[in-house]
Amino acid sequence: MRIIAITNQKGGCGKTTTAVNLAAALAMQGCRTLLVDLDPQAHATLGLGLAPERLQKTIYDALINPYIPLRDIVLPTMIPHLSLAPSNVLLCGAESQLSQMTHREFVLKQQLSSVQDAFDWCLLDCSPSLSVLTLNAVAAATDILIPVQTHYYAIEGLRQMLETVDIVRDRFNPQLHPARILLTMSEKRTLLCRDVQQQLREYFRDAVFRTVIHRNIRLAEAPSAGQSILTYDRHSTGAAEYIALASEIRTGHDVEQEPSQASFTEPASVESQTDLALMNRV
Ligand SMILES: Nc1ncnc2c1ncn2[C@@H]1O[C@H](COP(=O)(O)OP(=O)(O)OP(=O)(O)O)[C@@H](O)[C@H]1O
Ligand SMILES: [Mg+2]
Repeated sequence: MRIIAITNQKGGCGKTTTAVNLAAALAMQGCRTLLVDLDPQAHATLGLGLAPERLQKTIYDALINPYIPLRDIVLPTMIPHLSLAPSNVLLCGAESQLSQMTHREFVLKQQLSSVQDAFDWCLLDCSPSLSVLTLNAVAAATDILIPVQTHYYAIEGLRQMLETVDIVRDRFNPQLHPARILLTMSEKRTLLCRDVQQQLREYFRDAVFRTVIHRNIRLAEAPSAGQSILTYDRHSTGAAEYIALASEIRTGHDVEQEPSQASFTEPASVESQTDLALMNRV
């Protein structure tokens, strides 16, 4: 099971939109996929049509009680092959309870190991913070996907995020593949977007996914219907782009372009590009 932590401490950069729609796209391509909602805001849970306040058990229970196995809280969704480990506001309390545990950074990893034969892909939707929950996600992950909105302020946040991933990798997860960057909410006609995109590709090269997610109103509407874009509007640009991202992640190349070396199986090194001097020039 490949475990992708979708994380960025910057809020509103498209983490949940990516987690829900990439999970749906992978599932629709026949992959057994588990989406874990690790955010007390429970947006991924809501986005798949569940009412968080009505849930009997959530990821909170599996994290704070080792006697509750993850499979007990996992729910099926309306999409075949897609399961959800839901969240609700109670997850706020996990932070302080986890802090008192020994091996607190590895609780999620432990729980995920019990379902590793049941799923091909597991996506972790993180909250916009560097909390113990996010540390758990990075410690459990095989891969990191950082959604980045294509504007200048996002680049500053990206540097911070990459430094954090490096620290967590060194301390808790030396096997972790180099992080990959996904450009989100891009606007085709904006010069600024193209400029930021070009600079990020120049510095991070193959670590940036070829697939770009453009701003698409249907992606913003789908959660209000409690659906992923794949069922809400299968023919939208947003659906096509998340399907392309799923293909790129699975196969290592995007559907429109020649095969590149960039993939989760053979990731390009971000570290070699994270030289601070370079980033400062960005
Ligand atoms: N490609 C897109 N086109 C249009 N709207 C988008 C797109 N991606 C995300 N959005 C909208 O932008 C807002 C923020 O997106 P999202 O919730 O995915 O970000 P997030 O990083 O998960 O936020 P948070 O940090 O609060 O968890 C949402 O209203 C979402 O519907
Ligand atoms: Mg979110």
